[in-house]
Order: sequence, then C-alpha cells, then structure tokens
Amino acid sequence: MALSKITNTPNVPTWQVAMDTAALLNSPVQVFEKYRKQYGNVFSFRFGVKRTIVVADPELLKHVLKDNNDNYHKSHIQTERFVEFQGVGLTNSHGDYWHRQRRLLSMGFTRSRLTEILPIQLKVLEDFMKGFEADVAKGPVDIHRQMVMFTLLSVGKSLFGSQMKKAELEQFADAIAEVQAYLVKKVVQPYLFPWFALTGQDKKHHKIRTEGEQIVIDYIEERRKSQDKGFDILQLILDTPYKDTGALMDDETVKVEILQLLVAGNETSTTAATWTFYQLSKYPEHVREIRAEIDAVFGEGAVSYAKLHDLKYLINVLDESMRNYPPFWMIDRVALADDEFNGVKIPAGTTVVPYIYGVHHNETVWPNPDVFDPTRFEQKQHPFAFIPFGGGPRVCIGQNMALMQILLVLATIIRKYDFNVVNGKEIGIKSMMLLRPDGPIPMEFKSV
Ligand code: HEM
Repeated sequence: MALSKITNTPNVPTWQVAMDTAALLNSPVQVFEKYRKQYGNVFSFRFGVKRTIVVADPELLKHVLKDNNDNYHKSHIQTERFVEFQGVGLTNSHGDYWHRQRRLLSMGFTRSRLTEILPIQLKVLEDFMKGFEADVAKGPVDIHRQMVMFTLLSVGKSLFGSQMKKAELEQFADAIAEVQAYLVKKVVQPYLFPWFALTGQDKKHHKIRTEGEQIVIDYIEERRKSQDKGFDILQLILDTPYKDTGALMDDETVKVEILQLLVAGNETSTTAATWTFYQLSKYPEHVREIRAEIDAVFGEGAVSYAKLHDLKYLINVLDESMRNYPPFWMIDRVALADDEFNGVKIPAGTTVVPYIYGVHHNETVWPNPDVFDPTRFEQKQHPFAFIPFGGGPRVCIGQNMALMQILLVLATIIRKYDFNVVNGKEIGIKSMMLLRPDGPIPMEFKSV
C-alpha cells in the first residue's frame, strides 16, 4: 500500500466504533469527546468505508481551513445530498461559482449595510418584545421556541424587509426543522434510501420543502413588481450586477441563495441565543454584571448598534457561551490531494472533520474547559482556538449580523428581567447538525 493511503494519526479501533454505533447515531458529540480524551486532539476512525480524521488542534485547523484551504472541499453530504433540498448556492458550491456568489453576497453583510438595516432590526425587536412580555407575564415560556421566532423574524426581515407574517414564519421554521431532521436521517442511514422512497417519506418532505420555498418565491415576485424598494438583502441581490459580466442574478439563483441564507442564519443564531440564556440562568452574578454594563453604556436610552460593541462583558459572555455550546459542533471537508502538516499525513479522499466543539474544549488552549468563565476572553487566544463561525475564506458570511441580533435581544431582555429554568431542570445536548437543546427549556422571567 502506498504510504499516502494511510494516516499516522491515533486511530480509534474499528471494534470500538462498532460498539459505539448507536451512540454515534444518537448524539455523536459525546462519543467524539470520549475519543478525543482517549486518543488526543487529532484522531481518526473508520465509519463504514470512509476514513475520517477529526481535528481539534488549532494549528491543524488553521492549515485545513485557511492556509491550505484550496485542498479541502466540503464533503459530498453538503455538495450532493443537501443539493436535493437546497439547490446549489453559496453554502455548498466551490471554485469560481462559489467565489462569484460570495463576492456579490458579501456586499449584503458589510458593516455599513448592517448599520443601514439596524432600524429594521430594532423594529423587529420592539415587535418581538411585545409578544415576549405578554407571554412571560402569563407564566414560564420555552426560551428556545421564543428565540426561534425572534431570529426567524430578524433574519427574515433583514433579507426581505417587509415583515413576514407570523403564520408564514411558523410554517417556515417548522419546514426547515423537519426537512433538516429528515436530511440528517438520510445521511446517517443511507441503507434505508429505498425504504424512505417506498414509504412516501421522500414525497412528503419534498412537499414540505416546496411549500416552504413558495413563501420565498412569492416574496421575490412581490418585490420585483413593487415600486417600494427596501434596504434589505433581497433588494441588494436583485439590484447588484456581477462584476465580471454585468448581469443580474436570475430568479432561480436568487431563490436558492435567499433560502440558503435563511436556513444558515436561522437555527444557528437561535441556538447561540438559547444556550446563552440557559447558561446565564445558572449564573445570576454574570446577569447582574451585564445589567450594570448595559446601564453604564446606554443609561436611560434605547439599546443601539453604535454602542453594542461597548458591551465588552456581554460580548465575552456570548463568546464563552458559544465556546461551551458552539451552534455548529463540527463542519466537514474532504482532502483533494495528499497533504501533510506537522507530521500528520492526510491522504487524498480522507474526510477531515474540523471539530469545533473539540477545539473549544481542548484543555491545552482552554484550561478547565467545562467551567463557564467569560473572563477567559480577556486574554488573546490562538485565532483557531475559538471558531464558532468557522475560519478562512469560507468563514460565516453572516457573523456580524448574527452578533448584532443576538446582542440586541440579550441586552434588551437582560436589562428588564431576571430569569431561571423552572425547577432548575438540566438541559442536555442533542447533536445532529447543530448542537440543539434536547427538549424545551421552560424559563420564568421576573421583571427587575
Ligand atoms: C450564531 C450564529 C451563526 C453561527 C454559529 C454560524 C456558523 C457558521 C459556520 C461554522 C460556517 C462555516 C461552515 C463551513 O466552513 O463549512 C458558516 C457559514 C455560513 N454562514 Fe453562518 N453562522 C451563524 C449565522 C449566520 C447568519 C445570520 C447567516 C446569514 C443570514 C449565515 C450565513 C452563512 C453562510 C451563507 C455560510 C456559508 C459561507 C460560504 O461557504 O462561503 N450564518 N456559518
């Protein structure tokens, strides 16, 4: 066998993986953590026929995601399987096509653009808070469900400007959740493909997807006809020509990109905000500290974007929350050609998993990683030790928008309420594509 066909990373024996199969399918992050503790921050295992190298080492992550990123494409799961449900767009394309889309779409997420859409965000927040205040006055609320509605409204508004109707929002959120869960099911149980087709599950999910898509198509058509041009990302996409050809994006491509942005931006921000509330509920001392900071920064005035960056303590809390519970616990890549870095051999065709949860809990860069300690972000870290938004050229395009939304909603709620989980219920992790809570999080909010 040629040397390039094998990796020299510590290898989890196949018998051990076989014994862990059920656990791997159920909640893989727990199994990955067990392996990382046993085999180190770079290890490999074979799942089915595929050899996978899992990376929780900042230097190797930098190499894969940034320095030698041309050699690493997203896996076939994203570039082929997801295409069935999402089409080909920014999140799952490569090469010149990806580059062209990224260049154009990036213009929707610049700081000046975000400043322009701030009034939209503030209006969303105001509307959301009316419902939230009414709900919490009645009793405990599921903070996860509340954040689903907030981020969908917030991302939806940034993309479409005009307020999406609540019923449409709910339909859309349910469609995304259901289709994604189904996609994951297909990815982890490929041998059941004939069964999925036979039992009509493919057809059912295709229908859910098309109905969700129709909402987006209607918004595009409405905007094309409307005289009322808004300051939102849809308008920017419709009006901005590609630099190379001067052509505008066609409707089908606009639909795919808007859908991908909605999907990419919705559950991720939801998850980040939800876990932050959950963790803060255990540490009232941080809540008090944040509230004092908000008072110092904003006084009696409204929360504003310009000063959001002055909320240093809150930003550290959010970072610490995403370190502990990164919304994407892993991403994936495939090596195109043989590669070697710091003595680690990565043969062509190997799946490489940038293990975000792993590097965020890597004891060599984060002492006492299980302790919630926002002050650790006061020290400078390796740039790839904290990568909730990925890294390198494919770093999350929406990260500034996400931070703006999450900080706005956290600051607004924390300013007004103390909160706790009903009966101190412990919430577990459900890790499929995202690191979700394993059930509702019933929370009580008391006005301060
Ligand atoms: C806390 C919230 C968010 C988190 C944790 C997050 C995380 C990530 C991560 C880890 C990646 C890299 C994926 C990879 O390299 O394989 C990514 C990419 C991406 N994100 Fe986000 N994201 C968030 C919010 C958003 C928002 C609000 C939007 C847009 C509205 C968005 C749009 C995208 C897009 C389009 C990509 C693909 C970029 C490309 O491939 O060029 N994300 N995100």
